[in-house]
Amino acid sequence: MSTIIETERLILRELLESDINEMFELDSNPLVHKFLGNKPISTKEQALEGIRFVRQQYTERGIGRFAAVEKSSGEFIGWSGLKLNQGEKEILNGFDNFIDVGYRFIPRYWGKGYATESAIATMDYGFKVMQYDTIYGAAEIENIASNIVLQKIGLQFVNKFLYEDIEVNWYELNKDNYGKKMS
Ligand SMILES: CC(C)(COP(=O)(O)OP(=O)(O)OC[C@H]1O[C@@H](n2cnc3c(N)ncnc32)[C@H](O)[C@@H]1OP(=O)(O)O)[C@@H](O)C(=O)NCCC(=O)NCCS
Repeated sequence: MSTIIETERLILRELLESDINEMFELDSNPLVHKFLGNKPISTKEQALEGIRFVRQQYTERGIGRFAAVEKSSGEFIGWSGLKLNQGEKEILNGFDNFIDVGYRFIPRYWGKGYATESAIATMDYGFKVMQYDTIYGAAEIENIASNIVLQKIGLQFVNKFLYEDIEVNWYELNKDNYGKKMS
């Protein structure tokens, strides 16, 4: 996937094996994993496996999360983008074969609007370039920042469901409503 998306402050590009150190910094931080099942990684090998899994999705599913690079510093700050969820292990709220929007950043880059900025760009890519009909989003109800971002980029709350005994909010946006109402 050679796509590059540029926003005002970020470059979104494919995730590379050379991002291993930054991906390790991201995914070994317990704060980052607080609302992701509390399972931070502990080795660089796990970071590499994660990168390889995303790169495999680019080839096999035609889409995957983008690495996000801060233009002003040139630093890798985390990832943001769309994923085609497929197969039993990726079923969520009873859905299989669905596109969701997601983001994960190193904490020193939180609170700058980067999740919102990158997610707006990837939703646009999803509807206009990839021609998806519906894009979904999920966030633990206690993950305030993520719920705010999903609402700000226009997703509509649908229902609450339980995932591993934790309450999660489920959102969706259909192409027919895209761009009509941003909250
Ligand atoms: C979720 C995450 C990506 C948000 O990134 P971010 O770049 O800080 O998000 P933004 O700055 O675009 O927006 C966050 C919004 O939440 C608000 N917010 C964050 N924490 C909040 C809190 N505790 N109470 C109220 N509002 C809060 C911010 O003020 C901002 O809203 P605003 O722009 O209206 O002021 C980041 O916290 C992260 O990487 N978390 C770990 C991974 C994760 O949980 N991913 C999502 C899984 S569903």
